[in-house]
Amino acid sequence: MPDRRVRIGPSILSADFLRLGEQIAEAEAAGADFVHVDVMDGRFVPNISVGLPLVEAVRRATKLPVDVHLMIVEPDRWVERFVAAGADLVTVHVEADPHLHRTLRAIEEAGGQPSVALNPATPIAALEEVFPLVRQVLLMSVNPGFGGQTFIPATLDKIRHVLTALDARNPTCLLEVDGGIKAGNLGRIVAAGADTIVAGSAVFAPDRSIAETMAELRAVTDSVR
Ligand code: DX5
Ligand code: ZN
Repeated sequence: MPDRRVRIGPSILSADFLRLGEQIAEAEAAGADFVHVDVMDGRFVPNISVGLPLVEAVRRATKLPVDVHLMIVEPDRWVERFVAAGADLVTVHVEADPHLHRTLRAIEEAGGQPSVALNPATPIAALEEVFPLVRQVLLMSVNPGFGGQTFIPATLDKIRHVLTALDARNPTCLLEVDGGIKAGNLGRIVAAGADTIVAGSAVFAPDRSIAETMAELRAVTDSVR
């Protein structure tokens, strides 16, 4: 575990959309490992964010992997189009899809990397059958829908349990955590076993540069591993 490099990706939900290209370039220059795009439909979550055209624009703006987090009902209807739009990883929520196995296979067949997300209230057992099928597991550490919420501490135990399961079933699978991550709690999250960190409001802060905020997060991950 200590040799697994921690990847940090900004969630552009908290970016300035009028300056998105510049902000992504700044994050890339500051060492971001991927770009996280939150797609919300106003049904699975109580908010609407962005869709396919924005994923296409992000794809053109960066060489970094584009990590698309679908917070939408019926994700199976959309996954191929998100891969075609330029998503490298496509995450679907367990809670949104009764035919998760088929959807994860469809992402892979379209040329994307399948990823599966769990809400804070969803037990890990919901992943049991799909562990071998995914490139990434995403644990939500807030209830999805909004940036800037407070990290739910029970996520730390969940990270440890998923890591144990992955070590047995899919040891190269990425373990991503999303929601409420700041320099102040990042150390505990990484120490618990997360290797892929999403940070929105911590990266796109009103009073500080992206270079500064990324450096602060990186200093924490470097000190833990
Ligand atoms: C929440 C989204 C997150 C969000 C994280 O539903 O999935 O990716 O942008 O924002 P912060 O880091 O501000 O909690
Ligand atoms: Zn997200």
